[in-house]
Amino acid sequence: MDQSLKPEIYIFNSLEKTGQALAERILKISNDAVAKKGKFTLALSGGRTPRRLYNLLASEYADKIVWEAVHLFWGDERCVAKDHPDSNYAMADQTLISKIQIPAQNIHRIHTELHPPEKAAESYEEMLREFFNNPEDKVSSTFDVILLGVGPDGHTASLFPQSLVLEEKNRWVAAVDAPPSFSTRQRITMTFPLMNRSRAAVFLVSGAEKSTVVEMILEKPDRARKIYPAARVKPTEKLMWFIGEKE
Ligand code: 6PG
Repeated sequence: MDQSLKPEIYIFNSLEKTGQALAERILKISNDAVAKKGKFTLALSGGRTPRRLYNLLASEYADKIVWEAVHLFWGDERCVAKDHPDSNYAMADQTLISKIQIPAQNIHRIHTELHPPEKAAESYEEMLREFFNNPEDKVSSTFDVILLGVGPDGHTASLFPQSLVLEEKNRWVAAVDAPPSFSTRQRITMTFPLMNRSRAAVFLVSGAEKSTVVEMILEKPDRARKIYPAARVKPTEKLMWFIGEKE
């Protein structure tokens, strides 16, 4: 089976320029999606890297994107309260959501207040299946764009190397534990069966500590797939890498 989907690669010399270019691309994709089907579905990533992008979307792009037609989701979440400093929702809320005119019902956060984490995962999956009208696991697309980051260990969302969840074939969302070196270990993450049904996936990366991983994923994808979860992301239409080189 052909594993390849040739990625589009955009390299800039700062995270600022990378964010600008990606914001512009998101504007275009969202306008096209809204014109075609009346809505744009975007899964956000956590971590530090996307902060600048979210700030830009909330300022320069606040009046350009048709926010009433945008639905926001998350690729993963840390199991903390929704206003905790480690919450991916809290980060997006501070940098983006609280600053734009988006209807509350368009914000589809992961409900980490549900316990145990498996219950939060199940409830998120149920909501997604209902939203995308896919109760029987039909082969159809989900998100227009899923935004992703990469860790120096090759993880993406909360799909960590050697985790059993990498082999998941049915569930769309799972509760997982990050390796001991991560501060918030309990996580909820999308799985490959869901991620790889998104139309487009965009990696936004910056930082010298990630260059070895990124180089291997882009230059030796077959080898990388065996080691790094990020190398196994394969959306249905487009795979993009936005890289801020010198930081
Ligand atoms: C999370 C993520 C995760 C992140 C990478 C990169 O919740 O931590 O979604 O996959 O994107 O760890 O994080 P940085 O941008 O902080 O390097």
